[in-house]
Amino acid sequence: MYVQIEGLDFSYEKNEPVIQGVSFSMQEGEIVAVLGSSGSGKSTLLRLLSGLEVPNEGKIMIDEKMLCNRQQFVSCEKRNVGMVFQDYALFPHMNVEKNIAFGLKGYSKDAKKKRIETMLKLVNMVEKQHAYPHELSGGQQQRIALARALAPEPSILLLDEPFSNLDADLKMRIRQELRTIMKQTQMTSIFVTHDYDDAKAIADRIVFLENGQIKYEETL
Ligand SMILES: Nc1ncnc2c1ncn2[C@@H]1O[C@H](COP(=O)(O)OP(=O)(O)OP(=O)(O)O)[C@@H](O)[C@H]1O
Ligand SMILES: [Mg+2]
Repeated sequence: MYVQIEGLDFSYEKNEPVIQGVSFSMQEGEIVAVLGSSGSGKSTLLRLLSGLEVPNEGKIMIDEKMLCNRQQFVSCEKRNVGMVFQDYALFPHMNVEKNIAFGLKGYSKDAKKKRIETMLKLVNMVEKQHAYPHELSGGQQQRIALARALAPEPSILLLDEPFSNLDADLKMRIRQELRTIMKQTQMTSIFVTHDYDDAKAIADRIVFLENGQIKYEETL
């Protein structure tokens, strides 16, 4: 299995479990939606996967690399995990090109330019290369946020309610696009939402989270 998560336990404060015994695995290229109500622990689970939080217990392995167990903890910067958050999607003072370049620190100038071009083509935004975030629609901003997350070729892409700021019409269009792009790039992705229709439209499988525990799974 490409992603193996076993027995994750986590609490922000002592005696208040937020994630409890979470285990699941994913195949390479699979899209899993994590569905749950507000406060169920969805964002916390993504924070654990990206290395922003340290679990009390459990193991995280991605692409045969042990990221976290009792003996070791690989820090956030070294995990090569791509994230798209619900807010602060883009840096407002940087244009599109600079936003995408942000994650490409180790790249040469040429490689950077090429990668930005490829990403802009992928999300169909080539003509907006020099635009600033405030000059883009909500859906365009989310596409650039996706391009930025995918640019450094992450081993996994984590999306935390990326549609929360979009109106219903746009959301419907974007979620189809999103699935197409993730499948095109064969990106292993975890998509967090509280909307069953979003989960159904995008994912291959839905994991239901309740009070920090996986209650059941549905394969679509
Ligand atoms: N930094 C923090 N410190 C203490 N408790 C926190 C912190 N962040 C979240 N929590 C608590 O952990 C629980 C899970 O929060 P989390 O943000 O993971 O939920 P969520 O499923 O993402 O909710 P939402 O759908 O509202 O985004 C909640 O009870 C929340 O109050
Ligand atoms: Mg959340």
